[in-house]
Amino acid sequence: MATNPLRPVLLAAGRSHRLERVVARSVLTRSLVERFIAGSTEREVVGAVADLLGSGRFVSVDHLGEDTTDAAQATATVDAYLSLLQEYSRLHTPRPPAFPSNSGRPPAFPLEISLKLSALGQSLPDDGHAVALANAHKVCAAADAAGVWVTVDAEDHTTTDSTLAIVRELRKDFPTLGTVLQAYLHRTEQDCRELSGPGSRIRLCKGAYREPAGVAFQKKADVDASYERCLRVLMEGEGYPMVASHDPRMIEAARRDAAELGRGPDDMEYQMLYGIRDGEQTRLVSEGYRVRVYVPFGTQWYGYFMRRLAERPANLTFFLRSLLTR
Ligand code: FDA
Repeated sequence: MATNPLRPVLLAAGRSHRLERVVARSVLTRSLVERFIAGSTEREVVGAVADLLGSGRFVSVDHLGEDTTDAAQATATVDAYLSLLQEYSRLHTPRPPAFPSNSGRPPAFPLEISLKLSALGQSLPDDGHAVALANAHKVCAAADAAGVWVTVDAEDHTTTDSTLAIVRELRKDFPTLGTVLQAYLHRTEQDCRELSGPGSRIRLCKGAYREPAGVAFQKKADVDASYERCLRVLMEGEGYPMVASHDPRMIEAARRDAAELGRGPDDMEYQMLYGIRDGEQTRLVSEGYRVRVYVPFGTQWYGYFMRRLAERPANLTFFLRSLLTR
C-alpha cells in the first residue's frame, strides 16, 4: 500500500516479461523461491501438504500461473489441477460430511484448492469469460468428486465482475465454492453484504495488486479500516468467514468480532500464505483455531513472488541481501 514507496514499482515489475526472464535467469536461487513456493510438481507440493496437515493446519493449494492468453495453456492448468486432485488421494483424508449442514456452516475439511480464473482462460480475447467458466466447472466437478473444497482467487479489479459472475454460476452446481474479496476495493463492503448469505465461504484479504484511486483505497490505514468493516459484515453474516491476513490487528479483530457475535473457533478460519508467520500459524492452531495455509506450487512463480516482495520491505531486504551475498 502507499506506505511502502517501492510497492508500485515492484508490482509493475511483477508484470514485466522482460524482467521475469532476467530475474529467473540470473538471480534467484532455488532456496530463495522455496521460502514462498512449495515445489514445482504435484508430487512435491503434496509432500509439503502432508507436513502441514501433520501439524494440525489445513491447506489450499494453488497451481501458479495467471493472465493466460493461450487456450492450450488454460487447458494445461486444468490438467495440472486434475493431477493434483489425484495426488491428494494419496493423503487419505476423510471426505467432508454433506453440506450445507443443518447449521448452514461448512464442516471442517482440511483439503482445498485455489483457482485463478485468469489462469483458466478468463483473459482470452472474445470468449475468455465462457472458457474460464467451463474450465473452472471441470475442476470443480473433479474436486467435488474427490471431496475437496475450491476457492476462487481475486485478481485485479478489471476481472472482479466477471469473476463474481462465474462464482455465482458455479455455486448453483457446487454450493461449497468459496471466493476471495479484497478489502482495498471500494466496492467490497457491499460485495460482502451481498455474498455472506447461508453456506457462503468468503476469504477476505487486503488485496495485492496495483489499483487506481478510483476503485481502491491507497493508504494502508484506509485499507486496514476497510478490512475491519468488511470482516464485521462477514462475521455478522450467515456464512463462513476466512480471515486471510498476517496482520496481528486483523487477527485480533476477528477474535474480538467472533467473541462478540458468539462465533466459535469452528465457525471461521484464519488463513496465511506458505512461508509467512509460520510460528503464528502454529500458535493459533494450539489455541484451537482453524488455520489454513495457502500453498502455491509450479514453475510460474514470478508474479506471485514479486507480490510477496511488494507487500513487505523485510521480504525485499531478505531478497536483496541474498543477491549481495551470492
Ligand atoms: P500487511 O501486508 O498489511 O501487513 C500488516 C502487518 O502484518 C505487518 O505490519 C506485520 O506486523 C504483519 N506481517 C505481514 N507480513 C509479515 C511477515 N512476512 N512476517 C511477519 N509479520 C508480517 N490477494 C489478492 O489480491 N487476491 C487473492 O486472491 C489473495 N489471496 C490470498 C490468500 C491468502 C490465504 C492470504 C493470506 C493472502 C492472500 N492475498 C490475496 C494477499 C493479500 O491481499 C495481502 O497482499 C497479503 O496477505 C498481505 O497483507 P496482510 O493482511 O497479511 O498484512
